[in-house]
Amino acid sequence: MPKGLALKEDFLSARINERIDQDSFRELKLSTGKIDFCSNDYLGIVKNRLLEKNSDKDAFTLAHGSTGSRLLTGNYGLIERTEDKIAKFHDAEAALIFNSGYDANLGIMSAIAGRGDTIIYDQLSHASIRDGIRLSLASGISFLHNDCKDLEKKLQAAQGNKFVVTETIFSMDGDYSPLNEIVGLCKKYDAHLIVDEAHAIGVIGKSGEGLSQMMNLHKDCLARIYTYGKGPGCHGAAITGSRTLRKFLINFARSFIFTTAMPPLGAWAIQKAYDTFPQMDEERKKLEELVGVFSNANIPFTKLNSESPIQVVIIPGNSEARFAASVIQDKGFDVRAILYPTVPKGLERLRIVLHAFNTVEDLGRLIDVISFMRP
Ligand SMILES: Cc1ncc(COP(=O)(O)O)c(C=O)c1O
Repeated sequence: MPKGLALKEDFLSARINERIDQDSFRELKLSTGKIDFCSNDYLGIVKNRLLEKNSDKDAFTLAHGSTGSRLLTGNYGLIERTEDKIAKFHDAEAALIFNSGYDANLGIMSAIAGRGDTIIYDQLSHASIRDGIRLSLASGISFLHNDCKDLEKKLQAAQGNKFVVTETIFSMDGDYSPLNEIVGLCKKYDAHLIVDEAHAIGVIGKSGEGLSQMMNLHKDCLARIYTYGKGPGCHGAAITGSRTLRKFLINFARSFIFTTAMPPLGAWAIQKAYDTFPQMDEERKKLEELVGVFSNANIPFTKLNSESPIQVVIIPGNSEARFAASVIQDKGFDVRAILYPTVPKGLERLRIVLHAFNTVEDLGRLIDVISFMRP
């Protein structure tokens, strides 16, 4: 590297070195061919190439580019038909596709509330929710994780239009939100509810429709965010709600407006996902079985209570969690450590993701490896 350039980047190196000192430096790694207990491919749609197998030849001639923002040249029939299909499946008036779940959350959270309004969000909400709220002119206040008493206190003190945001299954803890109680509080305090179903779609409900629909609470939500990069096995996201909400987002969600639209190939994949995951009953049953096996396993570490495919083993300390993950990886399992600052200090962890394609025997061997480790 030229000498001058290195000198000008000292401020970057300083920040990187802080991370190295905290043992929280991140690096890109290629997938390793180990047994997957890590990816978000819960149903195995990607592993088994189901969307490609279900496609006709014409799909491969679809454009890989959309040529512009949806508001300019990037709108096309297939993406609008895909949105109609999404809305119908999720029993909503309308849906709007975004390029990713990150974009969807950034777009809605930053636009939905104005100065003087209040957005109250679960403290464990995904970074995309929190980043969107930071961009908003409203005040953002967190409530203690899944704690409805604390949520009620925050609602009592809230000013202006009130919004409550939660995930239905939490990405890092794997637990469900108490949706019934949250809906009750939103009604009591006249607040709008927004739910992120990123880890529930494909996995929860008879047809993988997600938690809010399974509990018949979806009509109580102002907006629902569905992401396609996890259970559905493709990419992108959609926000469902009323036709008015869709019009509002098209006009005000900057991550929708100022970006090139998803290409036809992406919209096609989302349609295929909706033809595929609702049929995957066997896979959802298999996931339930594996969740039962892991929940009942006796290991010498604290496990978080989770009924979802996201299972958590707490190993406090970045170095300790990293070391535990490396021991498990050496035995042939792809399990990753989640470190501070992604999770709070002291709650560093192994995040073990279960998939329909994992066997009970593989999971048993993984549990054995963890059981032989000492806290
Ligand atoms: C709860 C939650 N919301 C949103 C996202 C972002 O979705 P995407 O990966 O499509 O950007 C994720 C995952 O990354 C997530 O876990």
